[in-house]
Amino acid sequence: MPMSTALIILAAGQGTRMNSDLPKVMHPIAGLPLLIHAIQAGRSIEPDMTIVVAGHDADLVEESLGDLTRKLHLVRQMDQLGTAHAVAQALPVVKAHRGDSIVLYGDTPFIKPETLLRMKEARSRFDLVVLGFKTANPGRYGRLVTVGDELKSIVEYKDANESEKAITFCNSGVVAAASSVLSDLVGSVDNKNASGEYYLTDIVEIAISRGLSATAIACDESETMGINTREELAAAETAFQNGMRSRMLANGVSMTAPETVHFSHDTVVGRDAVIEQFVVFGPGVTVETGARIRAFSHVEEAHISCGAVVGPYARIRPGTELAEDVRIGNFVEVKNALVGKGAKVNHLSYIGDAGIGEKTNIGAGTITCNFDGVMKHRTSIGKNAFIGSNTMIVSPVSIGDEAMTASGSVIVRDVPEGAIAIARSEQMNRSGLAGKFLNVLKSRKKN
Ligand code: UD1
Ligand code: MG
Repeated sequence: MPMSTALIILAAGQGTRMNSDLPKVMHPIAGLPLLIHAIQAGRSIEPDMTIVVAGHDADLVEESLGDLTRKLHLVRQMDQLGTAHAVAQALPVVKAHRGDSIVLYGDTPFIKPETLLRMKEARSRFDLVVLGFKTANPGRYGRLVTVGDELKSIVEYKDANESEKAITFCNSGVVAAASSVLSDLVGSVDNKNASGEYYLTDIVEIAISRGLSATAIACDESETMGINTREELAAAETAFQNGMRSRMLANGVSMTAPETVHFSHDTVVGRDAVIEQFVVFGPGVTVETGARIRAFSHVEEAHISCGAVVGPYARIRPGTELAEDVRIGNFVEVKNALVGKGAKVNHLSYIGDAGIGEKTNIGAGTITCNFDGVMKHRTSIGKNAFIGSNTMIVSPVSIGDEAMTASGSVIVRDVPEGAIAIARSEQMNRSGLAGKFLNVLKSRKKN
């Protein structure tokens, strides 16, 4: 039976260097808070318990976990006295746990499952396993002092001397040990250092002094990116986006300029779909195989079916369902609407809270007037209908199959199947009046 694992995820720090009112671990990458990225990374190894330590703005942080909360143990660190002190808050929950504990940091969201598995494997040979990474820019990371395979100590940047600062093997923060060993070690950490904090990193030297063994295994720098500043957050977003783009390309999605396409953490795009330049995906989007999202479009919470073409310059908002072969053209906004198979909304329209039947054509400039200032109302348009350009559809209104509206109409009542609705003022032509009218205007200007 594989050894059971408890995950302890530290998320109590304020993140002063973010210069933000929002707790650091709630800042999003690809639309998902850092902390949820970290929890998901940890869950991939199927821990039998996951403990999140919140502290700074704990209410907000815990709330941001939403439904996940049910599967987590939430503990609080009232004062943020350091990473070892944070782990100590989780110990009452972990105490009864027989197996290993792995500590993850909420601000280090990209650790891969295979890396955590390698740590578990190294645990069979060492009492304490720390995850490190080699980097050309060690910056303010803690430095790993090693001799051969053995880890001797971790020196925090603030406490490091020049030769220690020159070390390029750095601490990711991830630590694995038997839960009982971790409890003992953390209980012995003091705060006699440059920051006056209880450093989790001190457990290495304490372990060695007690005759336990420690090692550091290395992973790629991209996995252990710790986010402490807005600049690091932006760099992490770029790294995540690059990863998404590579996975999309590998899955058979065509992108003309992948570096300009921005995905949400949950975007799903089918094989042979085409995503043109400068497309932005918000959360909750599925693009089926063979659909095409043309340049400069923005899409969120929508389902786009096979063969549909969206954009250029389209805005697809939450609750949109585009059936097969739909055409949505430039400067069209669609919200909470179902557009039937083969229907077209090609130019300059707003379609909101609406259902549009198969093969219906919506003329340029059509607007569903769905909001009366207090409530939203629905528009229903049947199959094979033809909506003339610049029709205002004042909902709630229903337009039947094969019905038509005349251009420029303001439709306030239902239109029966097969009828033409004309709702605009009659045209008058007055011969020769144009010149006379202009002369009157010019004479007024002179006076
Ligand atoms: C820490 C490590 C450093 C490592 C780096 C990797 C220590 C002492 N230092 O430094 O060796 O290279 O991470 O990113 O561990 N937290 C709490 N309670 C606290 C303090 C922190 O929950 O009292 C949480 C934070 O929310 C954060 C994580 O612990 O998620 C790390 O804290 P942070 O202050 O970012 O530590 P670093 O200075 O980055
Ligand atoms: Mg950090």
